Amino acid sequence: MEKIVIVYWSGLGNTEMIARAIKEGMESKGADVVLRSVDEASPEEVKEAKCIVFDSPLMRNR
Ligand SMILES: Cc1cc2nc3c(=O)[nH]c(=O)nc-3n(C[C@H](O)[C@H](O)[C@H](O)COP(=O)(O)O)c2cc1C
Repeated sequence: MEKIVIVYWSGLGNTEMIARAIKEGMESKGADVVLRSVDEASPEEVKEAKCIVFDSPLMRNR
């Protein structure tokens, strides 16, 4: 598979917004990109991707 897979987790939506912007930017340069939240990403799809982007918010324990 010549796809780029973006795997993200987002609690309040900010990280998802960033993931969508990254996808749009990559697609504007001709890339074939799929967006998957961590719960919908499949190991096979991630394993076969030519590039994987992990997108997560920073959440330290308080
Ligand atoms: C419990 C909790 C801990 C967080 N800890 C940090 C932190 O240590 N450093 C930081 O820069 N932001 C921290 N944040 C802010 C989140 O990274 C920020 O709100 C982010 O945009 C949340 O992404 P989301 O909207 O995709 O859930 C924290 C937020 C929460 C709710």
